[in-house]
Amino acid sequence: MSTRYVAAIDQGTTSTRCIVYDRGGVLVSVAQRRHRQYFPRPGWVEHDASEIWSLVRLLIPEALRSAGATAEQIVGLGITNQRETTVIWDRETGIPLHRAIVWEDTRTSDLVEDLRSHGHADELQRRSGTPLSNYVSAPRLRWLLDTVPGAREGARAGRVLFGTMDSWLVWNLTGGPDGGLHVTDPTNAGRTMLMNIETGRWDRELLAAFDIPEQMLPDIRPSLSAVGVTTEPVAGVAITTMIGDQQSALVGQTALESGESKYTLGTGGFLLFNTGAELVRSRNGLITTVAYQIDGEPLCYALEGSNPTAGALVEWLKENLGLIETAAAIETLAGTVDDNGGCYIVPAFSGLHAPHWVSGSRGLIVGLTAYVTRGHLARAALETNAFGAQAMIAAVNDDLTAADAATRLTELVVDGGMTANNLLMQMIADICGLPVVRPRMAEAVALGAAYGAGLTAGFWTDTAQLRRNWQAAARWSPRMPADERDRQVATWARAVELSSNWRP
Ligand code: G3P
Repeated sequence: MSTRYVAAIDQGTTSTRCIVYDRGGVLVSVAQRRHRQYFPRPGWVEHDASEIWSLVRLLIPEALRSAGATAEQIVGLGITNQRETTVIWDRETGIPLHRAIVWEDTRTSDLVEDLRSHGHADELQRRSGTPLSNYVSAPRLRWLLDTVPGAREGARAGRVLFGTMDSWLVWNLTGGPDGGLHVTDPTNAGRTMLMNIETGRWDRELLAAFDIPEQMLPDIRPSLSAVGVTTEPVAGVAITTMIGDQQSALVGQTALESGESKYTLGTGGFLLFNTGAELVRSRNGLITTVAYQIDGEPLCYALEGSNPTAGALVEWLKENLGLIETAAAIETLAGTVDDNGGCYIVPAFSGLHAPHWVSGSRGLIVGLTAYVTRGHLARAALETNAFGAQAMIAAVNDDLTAADAATRLTELVVDGGMTANNLLMQMIADICGLPVVRPRMAEAVALGAAYGAGLTAGFWTDTAQLRRNWQAAARWSPRMPADERDRQVATWARAVELSSNWRP
């Protein structure tokens, strides 16, 4: 019998990849393309959903070709994606009615503040698990329905469909206008603020609060389940997982037990702490999110902290300021100085997220003197990821204490492209006061979707097999004296305070 593989599509914020893995979880081939970022106004971020689908059409055959595999040899395909990004399209033509509004976009801040001023925030959070903010999809969908001519009427008539990127891709992969499946999973649906976090179903009250017609929403299916079979761009591949990218990284790290966690540094920095069957409500501004759902099993939950601007800040230093020529060069530049020279950056390009949640705030650089060099700026930029993690860990551990949980977050397991930066890893260990561990397979997002797809397809029969693939590759211990750490964390908190009060 010919060799069997699993494949994953990782549709991220800046690029899309298709990766083929073998039974040992080893990467066999990868095809990747970046897509265009649109910034039509300050705080607005858009993607062309049709461009992204065109790239997926190229990437799947390309990855199969370089793996030397046919569609029949792929036992399952997992889809993982940037979450909260909002697309509406015409069911009959397959054409989006507007560019996708990206999760980083802040255009709905006023709508969010209006809902808050009417006293709805607590009830919306209780139902959805998510603090009310411009991060989730619902306000964006409301904006599209209010703004795009004919969108609301089309949605009511069942002609205009809504989806996050998982839904958009699966609909196209399974036939598009010719019977494409309109589906999503609880990890993505939960990030719309329209799903009830307890039931994993669309919630009538949430739909009413945002004035969203239910008929435009996809069916919610378990994350790890037999979703359907592709007709495009290659026919006959079983889609056996759909999962949001941060939850996928949790699976890729095999952090499948309550008490296990991961911190992924991609476009943003996202910490997820698995709480298993227990739905822990945060009193510290974290999101209660679905970690995944296996077909036939109850929802598995996590607490999540997010900083939207991690790799995006490095990209900004490169593209907008020309401070570095490549993203990796930031490590060398930051290494030219011993500290941040008194300079702190708060990269609130998309407002402040967990645990602060200030939708309308803007980023800032403080502490500038003539002493500050490019090196200090580079260092301050990297440190934002350490301060962000420190605040999230403190929030997680306080929530766990309040919930009388048996576990705490005592070690930070990291993944994502930025974790190749050893200087940054030491900074995180220092500022968080915890050991930082980087596994051998540090690209956990796509791996998680592949693991899910392979488990559902019976390629792997139990998770113990996958756990054996996980090996620590490097570890950093905190070296900074506690009083220095406390001083820096307090200074950062003052910078965050300034940012939260800054309005354009
Ligand atoms: O919530 C947004 C997140 O899913 C985006 O992830 O990997 O593009 O930083 P990433």
